[in-house]
Amino acid sequence: MSDRGFFISLEGIDGSGKSTLKEGLMKEMGQTHPVVGIREPGGTIVSEKIRDMLLDARNSGIMGRTEALLYAAARSQVVEEVVRPALGRGKIVIADRFMDSTVAYQGYGRGLDLQLLIDLNRICTGGLYPDLTLYLDIDPLKAYRRRLHEQPDRLEQEGLEFQVRVRAGYLKLAATEPRIHQLDASQNQQQLLDEALRLIYAGLEIGE
Ligand SMILES: Nc1ncnc2c1ncn2[C@@H]1O[C@H](COP(=O)(O)OP(=O)(O)OP(=O)(O)O)[C@@H](O)[C@H]1O
Ligand SMILES: [Mg+2]
Repeated sequence: MSDRGFFISLEGIDGSGKSTLKEGLMKEMGQTHPVVGIREPGGTIVSEKIRDMLLDARNSGIMGRTEALLYAAARSQVVEEVVRPALGRGKIVIADRFMDSTVAYQGYGRGLDLQLLIDLNRICTGGLYPDLTLYLDIDPLKAYRRRLHEQPDRLEQEGLEFQVRVRAGYLKLAATEPRIHQLDASQNQQQLLDEALRLIYAGLEIGE
């Protein structure tokens, strides 16, 4: 591992298993590597406040562009306050969502201009992009069924058609960005974790 650390992001539609995989990776990799986990939006006091605003089911009036800017503001803060310093200390950072969520959700999901979102991502990250992105691909209906018992937040109230558009966006991103590796998120948790670890260790070039 270089002294610059290694930055991994996990992406996928709601209920695809990002948080579950992140937990598994932190536990497994934490035994041998210094690992820092963040979730998006969130990870700092300011970013968590923005998260509350974004996910609050009462805030149904938030406009598409406002939403994109709020995500970008939260991301900007966590990049400077947490991600960059951790990478500078040689740590592995695992992000539960990052910049590709902006393009998939606000771009393909809501129809905002893709170039505007790409520019916004460059601005709010200061050009710091993940070394490796694992995209958890799953049929939205299957993902939805996994989470029937949970209370929907503002974004999750938008239904299946929205998730179908977001998935299509992710598939396009995964097909065009070499950084993004697509995983079958319908397989069981252990298989998914093993596959993710293989890809990460290959990326780290430290072998298994
Ligand atoms: N590989 C898997 N197979 C079956 N069930 C799974 C798998 N991974 C996660 N789950 C279950 O599916 C549900 C959603 O998983 P999780 O919360 O990790 O998804 P998420 O991508 O983080 O969702 P969100 O975008 O809403 O945060 C949870 O109940 C979890 O236990
Ligand atoms: Mg989650």
